[in-house]
Amino acid sequence: MTNIDANHKTAVVTGASRGIGLSIARMLAAEGFRVFGLSRHETHEDNIVFIPCDVTEISSVKNAFDKILDQTGSIDLLVANAGMGISGAAEFAREEEIDRQLAVNLTGAIRCARQVVAPMREKQRGRIVFVSSLGAIFPLPFQSFYSVSKAGINAFSDALGLELRPFGIETCTLLLNDVKTDFTASRIKNIQGDDIYSGRIRASVTKMEISEQHGMEPDQVAAVLGRLLKRRHLPPHYIAGFSNQLLGLLYRLLPTRLMLKILGKIYG
Ligand SMILES: NC(=O)c1ccc[n+]([C@@H]2O[C@H](COP(=O)([O-])OP(=O)(O)OC[C@H]3O[C@@H](n4cnc5c(N)ncnc54)[C@H](OP(=O)(O)O)[C@@H]3O)[C@@H](O)[C@H]2O)c1
Repeated sequence: MTNIDANHKTAVVTGASRGIGLSIARMLAAEGFRVFGLSRHETHEDNIVFIPCDVTEISSVKNAFDKILDQTGSIDLLVANAGMGISGAAEFAREEEIDRQLAVNLTGAIRCARQVVAPMREKQRGRIVFVSSLGAIFPLPFQSFYSVSKAGINAFSDALGLELRPFGIETCTLLLNDVKTDFTASRIKNIQGDDIYSGRIRASVTKMEISEQHGMEPDQVAAVLGRLLKRRHLPPHYIAGFSNQLLGLLYRLLPTRLMLKILGKIYG
């Protein structure tokens, strides 16, 4: 798929019931895509067909994509956006919360991407965009499993992109910094051990929450993606927002030890 001649093209957005996913789904519908939104809760929106789907359940994912393919015959664009966050000290994280973090953000996104590979390969075109985070390259203390989930998705996107290049299928991770959504309120917070960690768990997560609530608007993220889709080719990674791109540059330039020291001063 080259750039956005969107008319009659089919796009699937996961996590489309609110926040960034809903903004992206609306933007794609406005660009002329036939848009399917997947999430556990349905929302009613003109020009978006919602299909209930829990990305952590393979049967639910398969049903949703089968339904879409039955109706459309092809999928041109997948935006794997569904996500959630947990926070707390790695030491005290509950097993079920670690599993959930990886099941939604990592395995869930992988599962959805795998559903579209064969139909895209048959058409010899397609684009898969994974909504990732700067937390993938800046490992966040007290959100380590979130960072793991997003670093994993970056690696998967790159590897998948290499596998699929001969078939005209492109993958891209869209790395976001703070965005003002319900993500902050939905975060599963565990402050167990905060006394042992001298109050650093609560302080770190509170700082992150404040930044998120002063972050970009979801519509701005959607606009960034809209511009990316107009390019002839997608970049493998793209950081949304100019100041965030400067952070990405710093990440490339600074020695790891120094980068971690700075990160530790801010969030450690
Ligand atoms: N907000 C930020 O600051 C920020 C920063 C960097 C990256 N991101 C990433 O951006 C993406 C979207 O986050 P957001 O800020 O828009 O959060 P949000 O407002 O909380 O929206 C999350 C979306 O994911 C869906 N979702 C969650 N669990 C799901 C599941 N098991 N199956 C299917 N859908 C599921 C939710 O729908 P249901 O509850 O209806 O299922 C909802 O539509 C996430 O991947 C997040 O990691 C966000």
